[in-house]
Amino acid sequence: MDLHHHRTNYNKSELSEDIIQQAPFDQFMIWFKDVQDTSIREANAMTLATATADGKPSARIVLLKEVNERGFVFYTNYASRKGKEIEENPQAQILFFWDDLERQIRIEGRLEKLPTEVSDTYFYSRPIESQFGAIISQQSSVIPSREYLEEKRKALKNTTPKRPESWGGYVLVPEYFEFWQGRPSRLHDRISYRLVDDAWKIERLSP
Ligand SMILES: Cc1cc2nc3c(=O)[nH]c(=O)nc-3n(C[C@H](O)[C@H](O)[C@H](O)COP(=O)(O)O)c2cc1C
Repeated sequence: MDLHHHRTNYNKSELSEDIIQQAPFDQFMIWFKDVQDTSIREANAMTLATATADGKPSARIVLLKEVNERGFVFYTNYASRKGKEIEENPQAQILFFWDDLERQIRIEGRLEKLPTEVSDTYFYSRPIESQFGAIISQQSSVIPSREYLEEKRKALKNTTPKRPESWGGYVLVPEYFEFWQGRPSRLHDRISYRLVDDAWKIERLSP
């Protein structure tokens, strides 16, 4: 497969120091509002990159479920591969790429587990089959077959789901944001916000 000639010119928008928000959360909200007006179905799907204590990385998609004054919230299994990595190294990055808008956002910070009451509230708000799914899945462990999952579901028939302790949320508390807007001739706009002495320092990066 040769993709050397597969190329797109980016020219839909621009990002400049004159128009950006002084607070990165505000800038994120503006861009998130923009993406909700596109046909992108899962604009809240983000790549989550984690790493082991000795720096071996792994990445996967998870769904952003909330943005609050503390940070960016998602839910998963604490005993999964990512959960184990986060346990030994809480530093992580989330990444959004919105093709229709020619935009990318990366956000770095530390992951903290949400309080159990918060995970409970979200767990019990999910459709009941999703609740059973979370109970059945020992996420990231090797299983013998598809049937193994179906059998586990049957075995739980007529039971009431209870949130497993291994299932819950994290919040990524950001220390760094970077907003990327594609521009013609690969001279893209990149604006970063770095937390320095409790204030956001804004800088432009070379594309
Ligand atoms: C669109 C999409 C959304 C997903 N959302 C989540 C999610 O919110 N939480 C989650 O644990 N896994 C989610 N996954 C599955 C993960 O990508 C991944 O397979 C799983 O979490 C196991 O990852 P790990 O083995 O690195 O821990 C999603 C996958 C896709 C493609």
